[in-house]
Amino acid sequence: MPHLIAVLPGDGIGPEVAAEARRVLEATGLDLVFEEAPVGGAAYDAAGHPLPPATLDLAHRADAILFGAVGDARYDGLERALRPEQAILGLRKELGLFANLRPAKLFNGLEDASALRPEIAATIDLVIVRELTGDVYFGLKSRGTSAEGLREGRDLMRYDEAEVARIARVGFETARTRGSRLCSVDKANVLETSQLWRDVVIEVAADYPDVALTHMYVDNAAMQLVRDPGQFDVIVTGNLFGDILSDQASMCAGSIGMLPSAALGATGKGLYEPIHGSAPDIAGQGKANPCAAILSAAMLLRHSLGEAAAADRIEAAVAAAIAGGARTADLGGNLSTRGMADRILAGL
Ligand code: NAD
Ligand code: IPM
Ligand code: MN
Repeated sequence: MPHLIAVLPGDGIGPEVAAEARRVLEATGLDLVFEEAPVGGAAYDAAGHPLPPATLDLAHRADAILFGAVGDARYDGLERALRPEQAILGLRKELGLFANLRPAKLFNGLEDASALRPEIAATIDLVIVRELTGDVYFGLKSRGTSAEGLREGRDLMRYDEAEVARIARVGFETARTRGSRLCSVDKANVLETSQLWRDVVIEVAADYPDVALTHMYVDNAAMQLVRDPGQFDVIVTGNLFGDILSDQASMCAGSIGMLPSAALGATGKGLYEPIHGSAPDIAGQGKANPCAAILSAAMLLRHSLGEAAAADRIEAAVAAAIAGGARTADLGGNLSTRGMADRILAGL
């Protein structure tokens, strides 16, 4: 039986990079079938909703989802439920994809592309384990008027102990596959959600005596990421902190166009996407770096299809292309999206 891959290209550079990731998957020779559906602003234009029933149905039927990116300023005026970003949030929630793995490492040769000094950049090799279906993203939201008659907005930051425990376990398990060091990032000096987070992480740690657990406040973590990223092995953190820290980590590793992600739940199904967005400023110009999407496809093979060898081959082909000097504009070169993918395909 072939594996069904849902391809949801989305908006902006989403379709440009998703097409290259799909080409790489096709080149593996594995028994895969692809079905494509609109998502985000493209789906709003086509069907009046960012996550139409047919797209959600495809996501449910698929073994894995290859996602591009969604969003464009054209939709900023829409009510929140109809904005493109609701599609990715809805998919994560509907499919129970609570664990987001965001690996950040510097590929050999990219030292010059990093915002850090080369000798510091060279040390970054970490995974951010970001909780993905809770926190201030999914807490009660409202707009209203304050007692003083001022316009007011509210987003409830909320976690329960079960949500924290399950992502903590993913953090510990991920650490076990690597350097066995886990840094839990929170803001327990100020936030109740974070104190609960820290308490529960410490409880779960009892099951992982072989993993060295540390705790760090998120503001310090942001500073430490640029001071000495090599100190981190696995970071486990909440939805909002993980979102912000992973964009920051990407620039330590050379470009936001290099960082892939896997969104996983309790089953083998996962959603795979670059951590970047739709990049409206470069969309339609063939400038986008496809590496993050291609590396996401490798994660898809590893985590949802059990094809670790094929995933290794893709990652090695990306490393070889980079080592051979292949560079899109974000990395200081002039290859197009297609040109970069061609260089990677040549090494497969
Ligand atoms: P962004 O990640 O889209 O872009 C930030 C900057 O990085 C831009 O200058 C862009 O050109 C550059 N960049 C991003 N990806 C690149 C790539 N592959 N190659 C080269 N350069 C790249 O973030 P933003 O501008 O804050 O957001 C744009 C839209 O994307 C918004 O609507 C936002 O909500 C959405 N967004 C979606 C996702 C997602 O679909 N998962 C993620 C982040 C942002
Ligand atoms: C990401 C994005 C999303 C997030 C947005 C588009 C909802 O920034 O995947 O990192 O905040 O999770
Ligand atoms: Mn983000």
